[in-house]
Amino acid sequence: MDKITLGPMPYMSVMPTLLVGANVKGKANYMTAAWATVACMAPPMVCVALNKTRYTVKGIDENKTFSLNVPAAKHVVETDHCGLVSGAQQDKSAIFTSYYGTLKTAPLAEECPVNIECRLFRSVDCGSHLLYIGEVVEIHADRSCVVDGKPDTVKTDPIVYAQSAYWHVGKPAGKAFSVGKEYKKK
Ligand SMILES: Cc1cc2nc3c(=O)[nH]c(=O)nc-3n(C[C@H](O)[C@H](O)[C@H](O)COP(=O)(O)O)c2cc1C
Repeated sequence: MDKITLGPMPYMSVMPTLLVGANVKGKANYMTAAWATVACMAPPMVCVALNKTRYTVKGIDENKTFSLNVPAAKHVVETDHCGLVSGAQQDKSAIFTSYYGTLKTAPLAEECPVNIECRLFRSVDCGSHLLYIGEVVEIHADRSCVVDGKPDTVKTDPIVYAQSAYWHVGKPAGKAFSVGKEYKKK
């Protein structure tokens, strides 16, 4: 074994690249977020860590709703832009075409192949960041990206975030909940 310690830091191997949608003062705003994951299966919940200074935070606190939009790699420029500028300084409402679903106040970006519509369940104050946990009330998906009732990873072409760069999803390494059956005790 040859390990070195790197010190405590908010490390995760790879992350999704998402756009958090929230209405702030009645106008759609989208911010890029990578610190996000699934939080619960039943009821279905997702979560995202937002710095307290984000303009988006105002909108989620105001409406108690938000969306997580999954951009395709072809929209990497627009996606990165939403992470470079704040809605407090620049109106970001026209970067994506907004529509509304069940909740009426969580803007959904039409250009993103998958949109996760959330009702705020709870926000947890962790320090610099608030962890927003949202109950998923609906998943909207482009018909062309759905296979067997679920968004297809290849067709969706989501953007992976790692090492300050955007990546395409790579080659499969094995079938989950299956390949482990080949394990043989040595
Ligand atoms: C790739 C990438 C990932 C980011 N992930 C997060 C994140 O998970 N949480 C966060 O608070 N800010 C994150 N940011 C920074 C915000 O997107 C950025 O501060 C943005 O301008 C905030 O927009 P707003 O003020 O309109 O809400 C990320 C930025 C980029 C480029």
